[in-house]
Amino acid sequence: MASTICCFSLILFIAVVASSVSTASTASVGRKIFDVRSYGARGDGKTDNTIAFSKAWKEACAWRGNPRVYVPFGTFYLGGVTFTGPCKSRISFIIKGTLLAPKNANLIKQDTWIIFKYVDYLTVSGGGILDGQGSYSWPRNDCRRNPNCRALPMNIGFLFVRFSRISRIKSINSKMGHINFFAVQYFDITSVSIRAPGDSPNTDGIKIGESSHMRIHNVKIGTGDDCIAILSGTSNLDIDRVNCGPGHGISVGSLGRWKDEKTVQGLTVRNSIFNGTTNGVRIKTWASSPSRNLVSNFLYKNLQMINVQNPIIIDQQYCPNPPCNHKTHSQVQIQNVKFNNIWGTSMTKVAVKLQCSRNAPCKGVELADVNLLHHGYDGPAISYCENVAGWTRGKIYPPSCIR
Ligand SMILES: *[C@@H]1O[C@H](CO)[C@@H](O)[C@H](O)[C@H]1NC(C)=O
Repeated sequence: MASTICCFSLILFIAVVASSVSTASTASVGRKIFDVRSYGARGDGKTDNTIAFSKAWKEACAWRGNPRVYVPFGTFYLGGVTFTGPCKSRISFIIKGTLLAPKNANLIKQDTWIIFKYVDYLTVSGGGILDGQGSYSWPRNDCRRNPNCRALPMNIGFLFVRFSRISRIKSINSKMGHINFFAVQYFDITSVSIRAPGDSPNTDGIKIGESSHMRIHNVKIGTGDDCIAILSGTSNLDIDRVNCGPGHGISVGSLGRWKDEKTVQGLTVRNSIFNGTTNGVRIKTWASSPSRNLVSNFLYKNLQMINVQNPIIIDQQYCPNPPCNHKTHSQVQIQNVKFNNIWGTSMTKVAVKLQCSRNAPCKGVELADVNLLHHGYDGPAISYCENVAGWTRGKIYPPSCIR
């Protein structure tokens, strides 16, 4: 008897679901694919698809159910575009083909080529490519000489996005940085690849500010600037299995340049390789800082350095545009930073550089099982310490200078 009731109600349930699916165009439930071609997009590498993509996003975002914006194989030329939420449901953006940016940066009327903003439960995936076509802009980039240079658009940005992820996407040849995160929470970046030539200016891989609870796992980054740049207000960031190089390494900062910057806390960088980079793991703060700040609870663990210029470096005298005032001392306090099991080769003699502030000496710095070799005419590797307190564990080479 019980089983009859069960099956009767099951059949009733199926009937209800089937009828709601058949009227999906009005009831707006279930999976629905929003193929950009249905909105006029063409993958011919020439047609401007900006409006078609915006329309597809708008309808998908308003869909109650399981919407997917779908970009098929092909080369889709796209101007600057912002995909804004909040959306009615979890939403996927699947890119199979290549998105091609305008060669001329002036045609992108926003600071990032592709922006996702105010969205929760977003997935960007599909194995596709974002091509920033940066090689046309790089020769005109004068940011190394001109501190007030014009910022060029980054490839893709996530602003105020939560509970979301990007996976299996390749970003190449951005005009400036590749992937930007601002005010993002609970975000996973997995199986992403980022590539620009080692001499392309300011092509940071991943930039993160004001964000928390992010994971970067299994990512390959080779660019002309930082592989990952971690800026003011970032907390609980886990970086695992990153292959970095060429590039400037994984950097925290620069910090201390502006007033009211926020703390950077809870960073893990583990199981990663730095190959031919200028830095391995770096924390940099400006010598003069307008306000106090705190950088704390970092763990750098299981990292291989291959021909890295500065494998471990804390630089609290950061000065990219000399001359600088060396009479001032950073007010950024660095504490509880652990370097565990870091090995490989240093291209410069100073393999471990801990140059902390006289105003706010580094505290609780741990070196454990470090083995960094230097093969040069200038003799074996050494450590350099300034204003740093902490301890060592295990075998340390070059010998530690922490007291
Ligand atoms: C390091 O980079 C060099 C040059 O690009 C490459 O040949 C080598 O395979 C890389 N090594 C590792 C372990 O990734």
